[in-house]
This record gives sequence, structure tokens and C-alpha cells, in this order.
Amino acid sequence: MKQRFNQNQTFQSAVQNQISPDFTKFPRFACSLWFFNEVILSSLVVQNLNGRSRQKPLIQIMLLSPAAERSQDGLLSVLWELLEERSHRELFGLELGSGTGQHVVHFAREMPFVTWQPSDIKEEARNSIRAYIEATKAKTVLEPVYLDASEPWEKWAGLPQSSCDIIIAINLLQYSPFRTAEGVFKGSGQMLKQNGLLMTYGPYAINGTITPICNEQLDQTLRQMNPDWGLPDIDVLRQLAFSNGMRMERMIEMPESNKCLVFRKL
Ligand SMILES: C[S@@+](CC[C@H](N)C(=O)[O-])C[C@H]1O[C@@H](n2cnc3c(N)ncnc32)[C@H](O)[C@@H]1O
Repeated sequence: MKQRFNQNQTFQSAVQNQISPDFTKFPRFACSLWFFNEVILSSLVVQNLNGRSRQKPLIQIMLLSPAAERSQDGLLSVLWELLEERSHRELFGLELGSGTGQHVVHFAREMPFVTWQPSDIKEEARNSIRAYIEATKAKTVLEPVYLDASEPWEKWAGLPQSSCDIIIAINLLQYSPFRTAEGVFKGSGQMLKQNGLLMTYGPYAINGTITPICNEQLDQTLRQMNPDWGLPDIDVLRQLAFSNGMRMERMIEMPESNKCLVFRKL
């Protein structure tokens, strides 16, 4: 679902005035479908042309996902717990399927010891991530890159092998075909440093069973949107991790019937 909001909004007013009504409209979330709204930001930038400066209008489209907004604090707590003992070092984190960019700037604000590399296959997502970086003046978030996680790691935006302390994939495995999950695990097995972590988030099946009922309905909705999408099975992911040099270490229950899965590179 896409919705456009008024022009000339600032980032703050967009967040305060436009996201909040979504929260109050749906006060309880048993399970959640990811979608986004669009906010059009317009501003004037000063351009220097042949020694003369002039103002040029700049239009940016920022995507806002209510599900991303609701999950960001819980995910931040998990990341803190996972990375706290390494926080005296400078770490490098790669986000796959960053989407709007809300998560990465939120994590960057609270974890300045991590340099984040956001990525997505969609140009509209990369443009939105740029808009968030600019709006929040995030200094530890790099320019978003095109990265198709279903591709072999050699095509992952030229990032070097064994360069990542952490790789995160939030609501990616559910909203893409199984070959993306295969790519995420194969690629992470190559891109993570020894002891590096892969964290995936979203709803899952366990041993072929999906609970609660609202996640079963979510799985059906995803399959209607695209027959190759749907909730991945944790046991299948555990095996994928194993065959790519990683071990599933933790399964953390999260709000709205989601889970964080944590895999460690051996
Ligand atoms: C459901 S959205 C989740 C976005 C964000 N992680 C969040 O939770 O708000 C899935 C995102 O993954 C991206 N995506 C889908 N397939 C992908 C692939 N093979 N490689 C990288 N990104 C992909 C989509 O463009 C979309 O932005």
C-alpha cells in the first residue's frame, strides 16, 4: 500500500503528524504486514553555477513504514545486546534490504561505534535512505548501494570478503523468494568475519507450522502478493546457516509475533 502526503513537510512533522495516526488507528498488532507511505519533502538548495549562486528546488521522497517505526526500538535493544561487548571497537555492519532507511538511521544514532552500509535492490528505497541520512545528519551511515542479496557475494556491491562484523536482514526473507534466503546465507558466510553475526527478523514457520493464526493469514497474504514469498522455516534456515559455516545461536521472541534469529560465523 502506498499513500502520498502533503508537500513541504519537515522530517519531524512527517513523523509526528503522519505516522502517529496509523498507530492509533490500529492500537493492537497481533501480527504485522509491512507497507510504506510516501512523504514528499521539498527544500531549496544553493547551487553554484559559473561563480553565481542560485537556489534550486530539491524534491525528495521519503518512505515511512509504520511497521519499521514500531519495531526499531526492540531491534535496537537486541543489537545492543549482541554488540555491546565489542563496542570499544569500530565495527562494520551491512544491512540487506534496508527499505525505507528508518532502521539504519535509528541504529546509527544510538550505536556510533558501528559504520552502517545500507543496501536495497530498489532505487526508490535507496533514494529514501538518502533522504533519511540527510534529514538525520547521520555520520556513520554510508551512501546506500544496490545489492541483490540473491546474487553471489562477489556481486555484493564490491564489498570485501570477511569485512562485516554484523549483517542484518529485517523483514527481507519473508518478502522475497527462497533464493534470496539462500543468497543471504551463502553471502553472509563469505562476508562475515570470524565470530561475526547475522541477524534476521520477521515472522517464521517452525518445523512446517505457522503460529499464531494471524501469521498464517500473513503468510497467505504474502503468497497472494507473490507466490514465491512467504514465511521461511527456521529449521531450513538453520540448515542453510550450517552449510555456510554459521551456527544458529539464538531465537529471540519479539512483539507482533516476530522473532530475531541470530547466527554466528564459526
Ligand atoms: C518488506 S521490505 C523491508 C524493509 C526494511 N528492512 C524494513 O524492515 O523496514 C523488503 C525490502 O527488501 C528489498 N528486497 C527484496 N528482495 C531483495 C533482494 N533480493 N536483495 C536485496 N533487497 C531486496 C525490497 O526492495 C524492500 O525494500
